[in-house]
Amino acid sequence: MKDLQKLHYFEVPTVMKHGLGAVKYLPGELALLGVKKPLLVTDQGVVKAGLLDSVTKPLKESSINYILYDEVVFNPPLATVARGTEKYNQEGCDGLVALGGGSAMDAAKAIGVEIAHGEPILEYECAEGKKELCNRIPPLVCIPTTAGTGSEVTLWAVITDPEREYKFNCGGPLIAAHLALVDPLLHLSMPAEITAGTGMDALCHAIECYTCAYAQPQTDAVALLAIEYAGKYLRRAVAYGQDVEARYHMAMSSLLAGLSYGSESAGAVHAMTQTMGGIFPVHHGIAVGATLVPVMEYNWLGEPAKYARIALALGKPVIGMNEREAALVAVEAVRELAEDIGIPRLKELGIKETDITRLAEEAFNDPQTIGNPRDLSVEAYEQIYRRAF
Ligand SMILES: [Fe+2]
Repeated sequence: MKDLQKLHYFEVPTVMKHGLGAVKYLPGELALLGVKKPLLVTDQGVVKAGLLDSVTKPLKESSINYILYDEVVFNPPLATVARGTEKYNQEGCDGLVALGGGSAMDAAKAIGVEIAHGEPILEYECAEGKKELCNRIPPLVCIPTTAGTGSEVTLWAVITDPEREYKFNCGGPLIAAHLALVDPLLHLSMPAEITAGTGMDALCHAIECYTCAYAQPQTDAVALLAIEYAGKYLRRAVAYGQDVEARYHMAMSSLLAGLSYGSESAGAVHAMTQTMGGIFPVHHGIAVGATLVPVMEYNWLGEPAKYARIALALGKPVIGMNEREAALVAVEAVRELAEDIGIPRLKELGIKETDITRLAEEAFNDPQTIGNPRDLSVEAYEQIYRRAF
């Protein structure tokens, strides 16, 4: 821990329930939360993958009158949130169910903020001059269909402001889901590319939160097991989608990595990829996969002992090595993993090298630059971006 003078806190407002077929318990869980008419927030990807039925079937069987809002797009913009809020109010909903990846869950959290405060989410951006959240969002059940964002347990929503081409954060305990209902059977149909990208996102949350300045024993504990599970099971989940054991452990890796955020933010990878996501239509997890190794190459020097422990969590034989050698093994282990599961380079994501100057400046100004284990500058970001190409 870098700052022992500070009062650290770790709060988890979310109840976590998980298991194969867990989604069938949704009606009972909504009853426990007092929800009679939920807004079901999802996206077309979930609909096309045929996952919607798994949630609507038990709701229909229990005669729960849900309202479907299936217009969420990835990197959800302000307008997506506003339309959801309008629908919630028009239909007289009394709670939220999010079914999807980070975009659906974050959009549902943001709709919750607008309902609870009667104002646009933009007023509650985590930035100077903006308002603090003061009301709890309506009851929210998050059902993740990917294993990566951990949004089902984080205290954050990430929303895009298209006017500024900027992804901003809104967060705190008041925005967290009331229940994370994790059913790995919903992950079996996830395409290999998305499994790879979202899995790298989970691994990255754990590595960044374990090594950042905000790390504390509670977040370290969950981060290390998240890293271990990703190291053991991500290749299997990518190679054979129906591998239920791998899917279950990746779902848990994602959840544990989400918990490793605690009440704080991540580090340079997330500063880089959030700014990229505000400008280019890139998949967050895949962009994270493309930037994680170059950031680790830069960052290990700031936390060599913790990097050595990451190597151990990834199952590498580092006993007997000195700290520096073991720390570099961690970087190589993540590089191997990224290569094995086919993570692309940044240039393959449609980003041009001529964009580096702007991207580096924006990443440097992103709040997640603070807390990174090694001091950053615009020049350092430029160097990292070049390596990611
Ligand atoms: Fe992420």
